[in-house]
Amino acid sequence: MPAQEQGSEKTKTFYLETFGCQMNAHDSEKVVGTLVSEGYRQVPTVEEAGLVLYNTCSIRDKAEQKVFNRLNDYKKYEKQGKKFGVLGCVAQQQGKEIFEKAPYVSLVAGSASYRNLPQMLVQLEAGNRRVTGLDDRETDECFETEFTARTNPHRGYITIIEGCDKFCSYCVVPFTRGKERSRTSESVLAEARQMAALGYTEIQLLGQNVNSYRDPAGDRAGKRSFAELLAAVAQVEGIRRVRFTTSHPRDFGRDIIEAIHAVPALCDHVHLPVQSGSTRVLDAMQRLYTREQYLERIAWMKAARREISITTDIIVGFPGETEADFQETLGLLDEVGYDGVFAFKYSPRPNTPSFTMLDAIPDEEKSRRLNVLLETQRALQKASYQKHVGQQIEVMVEGRNEARQQWQGRTSQNKTLNFTAPEGVSLEQGSYVPVVVTTAFPNSLLGEMVV
Ligand code: 5AD
Ligand code: SF4
Repeated sequence: MPAQEQGSEKTKTFYLETFGCQMNAHDSEKVVGTLVSEGYRQVPTVEEAGLVLYNTCSIRDKAEQKVFNRLNDYKKYEKQGKKFGVLGCVAQQQGKEIFEKAPYVSLVAGSASYRNLPQMLVQLEAGNRRVTGLDDRETDECFETEFTARTNPHRGYITIIEGCDKFCSYCVVPFTRGKERSRTSESVLAEARQMAALGYTEIQLLGQNVNSYRDPAGDRAGKRSFAELLAAVAQVEGIRRVRFTTSHPRDFGRDIIEAIHAVPALCDHVHLPVQSGSTRVLDAMQRLYTREQYLERIAWMKAARREISITTDIIVGFPGETEADFQETLGLLDEVGYDGVFAFKYSPRPNTPSFTMLDAIPDEEKSRRLNVLLETQRALQKASYQKHVGQQIEVMVEGRNEARQQWQGRTSQNKTLNFTAPEGVSLEQGSYVPVVVTTAFPNSLLGEMVV
């Protein structure tokens, strides 16, 4: 009996590795919470675990390959009775094919099925070798759980909308995360209040496209638009910073900027992915806006009373992107003056409309464009970060770099501002302090704490 108990104890441990975006990071917090509430214990290594889970990303081919490499590295442990599960976007995208590719995997579940995790765990425990959770795009349910195991005690995510209905021609997300479904604003606010009561001061509202948030509240009086929800979360007592990601230019309304004006706790940063500076390419990408319409939204932000920091995502080497198109994207960088750019080489994804498009750009050319773009942005950012020198900015303390004798901080604009403090000063992680900026680098700032 004790031996058997020990055996079942062993299978009740799990290891989870997460790949990909913030949505995945937050899903993992919910998955961990759910597993713990089902009696599992999280362990830090594959070796110690009975159940090995990968929460995967399939946005680009490279990300997808990573999980198969991992599975290959660790399949030797199957003999010891370890079970393997693939969660997230690769699971949803490839479905049962994963069992063929990696026969030692016994759980495949996409994010739209996580609410059924407890039942799936029971099946796994019963020895089922082919457990699946592959709800398709049709689900109306969100994954709401009271068991979220947040990893940071000061700053946390809240999902407000899941899925995406935009179908940009290069993107797997509408297939892997299902159709758009929003949570009620009351449930979002309840979670925000609960987090504030636990001592959280920063909240990041998450969704694939937060601007298409639609409050499903039946009661008309309590119904909130996205901008109203932003303002309401930022007014929860104890919450000092609210961020949101990701925005889609087509749905990005002026009311968001008005909310940023009116509510100081809303951070002065907007991530607004443009993907390309060429209207021709935007059209082929099915982005539903032109360069001019995008720039109109940028103009709203530039006219705001608070200076709003703008960051973006760009794809280079989309099929048929000419040198002239690419030059338009470079020109846009200069025109907007981004504070950060996440740039990617186009990666053809199975089942997406652009997969079969002609005029593929050779990989070397994609690499060249990516490098030119990053170099251009680096030079622009180096100049634009300079404007902060001499400014006094409040940071949230994130930690300490002993080797450099510096504290690490983050500004409301989401910039890294490292700083020194007088000897003997000890700062708590998650506290807020004023810092005067002394030096600017292309990706971070350096300063001195004001005492
Ligand atoms: N290839 C390259 N980049 C992509 N992204 C989305 N799909 C692809 C793809 N097929 C990028 C977009 C998006 C970001 C999260 O990833 O820029 O905004
Ligand atoms: Fe993908 Fe476009 Fe939806 Fe973003 S808006 S998740 S890029 S389909």
